[in-house]
Amino acid sequence: MKINRPPPILELKNITVAKDGGKKKILRNISLRVPAGENIAILGPNGAGKTSLLKLITREYYPLADEKALFRVWGKDSWNIFELRYLLGLVSNNLQSLCAREISGLETVLSGFFGGIGLHGERITAGQRKKALSVLRFLEIDRLKNRAMSVMSSGEARRFLIARALVHDPKALILDEPTNSLDLRSTHHFKNMMRKIVRAGTGMILVTQNLQDIIPEIRRVALMKNGRIIEDGPKEIVLISRNISALFDIPVRISKRNGYYYAL
Ligand SMILES: Nc1ncnc2c1ncn2[C@@H]1O[C@H](COP(=O)(O)OP(=O)(O)O)[C@@H](O)[C@H]1O
Ligand SMILES: [Mg+2]
Repeated sequence: MKINRPPPILELKNITVAKDGGKKKILRNISLRVPAGENIAILGPNGAGKTSLLKLITREYYPLADEKALFRVWGKDSWNIFELRYLLGLVSNNLQSLCAREISGLETVLSGFFGGIGLHGERITAGQRKKALSVLRFLEIDRLKNRAMSVMSSGEARRFLIARALVHDPKALILDEPTNSLDLRSTHHFKNMMRKIVRAGTGMILVTQNLQDIIPEIRRVALMKNGRIIEDGPKEIVLISRNISALFDIPVRISKRNGYYYAL
């Protein structure tokens, strides 16, 4: 009997990205394979290359040509950029600053169907509106839908951007430093929302410099430093004091509580 397995979400082998006319290697020989449905966190200090890795995945940055290099998303190595970005729901802080405008939360979410930010006379189908409203209810933000993005708190606005990504039922939701600039309470609620999304079956690729962002449902962690992936595996093996001390160049002790890891 033949079992049809879905292709891996990501399959990268020997990928190098250089900037400044090839002089500066910002990603060095990256290999990373993420099977469909797997959740992974990529943890590393500022400047490690985490955002560059996401830009590589969304085809804003291109790898150096190399016959050993392999770059596949969902089993394919050539993509229409819009299809690719719908398949992978990327929420970055850059996107958040682009959206901080006089457009309502609902409009922001609906504009996800057209790949833009805000609506410019596009026709919205009943099905699209229904989908947007169901995502807003799922994320528990429907009561804020008529509020302008520019007056929402960071945490609220970020939820709408996540909703905007989720209207496509992406194969994976990709978050870049999602708790940046959120206070303790907003961080707590935001992480509960991340947990709810993952439990409902959307794969998550989380990029962060903060150990505490790694929700219990994410069981695999890759450590990134100086453009390289230096460790990759189950978090109970990767998130040990020795590795995290080396990653951030300071002595830390790791402790674990309620499925979360903390650096002391
Ligand atoms: N377009 C670019 N041109 C030159 N250097 C870049 C470019 N993009 C990223 N870098 C450099 O690559 C390194 C990694 O950056 P980044 O991926 O943003 O790190 P992180 O997200 O882990 O903080 C930094 O030194 C940054 O300055
Ligand atoms: Mg970054």
